[in-house]
Amino acid sequence: MRMEKRMSFKEEYKKRIAYIEEVLKTYLPKQEGYQKLIMEAMEYSLMAGGKRLRPMLMWETFRLFGGEGKVIEPFMAAIEMIHTYSLVHDDLPAMDNDEYRRGRKTTHVVYGEDMGILTGDALLNYAFETACLAFDMEPENSSRIGQAMKILASKAGIYGMIGGQVVDVKSAGQDVSGEMLDFIYRLKTSALIESSVMTGALLAGASGEETEKMEQIARRVGLAFQIQDDILDVTSTTEVLGKPVHSDEKNEKTTYVTWKGLEEAKKDVALMTEEAIGILHTLKGEKSFLEEIFRWLIYREK
Ligand code: IPE
Ligand code: IPE
Ligand code: MG
Ligand code: MG
Ligand code: MG
Repeated sequence: MRMEKRMSFKEEYKKRIAYIEEVLKTYLPKQEGYQKLIMEAMEYSLMAGGKRLRPMLMWETFRLFGGEGKVIEPFMAAIEMIHTYSLVHDDLPAMDNDEYRRGRKTTHVVYGEDMGILTGDALLNYAFETACLAFDMEPENSSRIGQAMKILASKAGIYGMIGGQVVDVKSAGQDVSGEMLDFIYRLKTSALIESSVMTGALLAGASGEETEKMEQIARRVGLAFQIQDDILDVTSTTEVLGKPVHSDEKNEKTTYVTWKGLEEAKKDVALMTEEAIGILHTLKGEKSFLEEIFRWLIYREK
């Protein structure tokens, strides 16, 4: 009997990153025309690296529910474009005012604030232009694709990521209750993670109940993810993170760390992750890599 050595988590993860980056390159616009600068800036921000967590979770969920073929790919590119736009705008002088992202100077520092704003706008709009290509790929699945588009749109908007960012920036320097902090995290961070797994599920033809379970899982993973992000903001270094540390303190943000202290925050990351994994276990199918990603996120260093 031939023994196949199982790839380590790190190897699997690297393989997936390489695949995702190929997909991203495929869907980036050509650098041409009088407006060429915007295509350059889009590539600069999008191809700077990053964990590619959202497209990875989308693809994994698509596979979990038996999805096949390439219809998922424009959506994978779209969610990473939306996420990257949120970072480009989050770093602007009027928002968190940060100069490093993904190990590089931020987009507005390199291209100017005007182009920083426009690059975010461009990535957001191009995300939807890209996702729409799925209709041409599988016209017979238009209804599913439409459902996925609806989630992609709403989770990025005022009831999703943008809504969370609004409350986040407007409550800087103010007293924020635990309830409000949970609201901010659920919207600014969980929403795009929910979007990733829900679109993956919908495109694979998962049931409403399964899609809703994935949403519940992603809500907890997103919360854990943001708390860990806050922890790293105080415990890590700019070199490791590829973005400035102490950004939250500089902007007088209330975070789980300022609210509960470092040790309690760490416990909450583990707790939320275990809750997510508990729900994951109620689903049928191959989900060991998803579980590994969730556990890896707890101890991630960047
Ligand atoms: C950063 O997201 C913004 C948060 C929601 C905390 P990531 O930590 O996923 O950033 P990249 O994509 O790896 O750069
Ligand atoms: C931002 O949270 C979440 C977004 C929706 C962009 P942070 O402001 O903490 O993200 P980082 O630390 O700059 O990546
Ligand atoms: Mg911010
Ligand atoms: Mg920030
Ligand atoms: Mg942060």
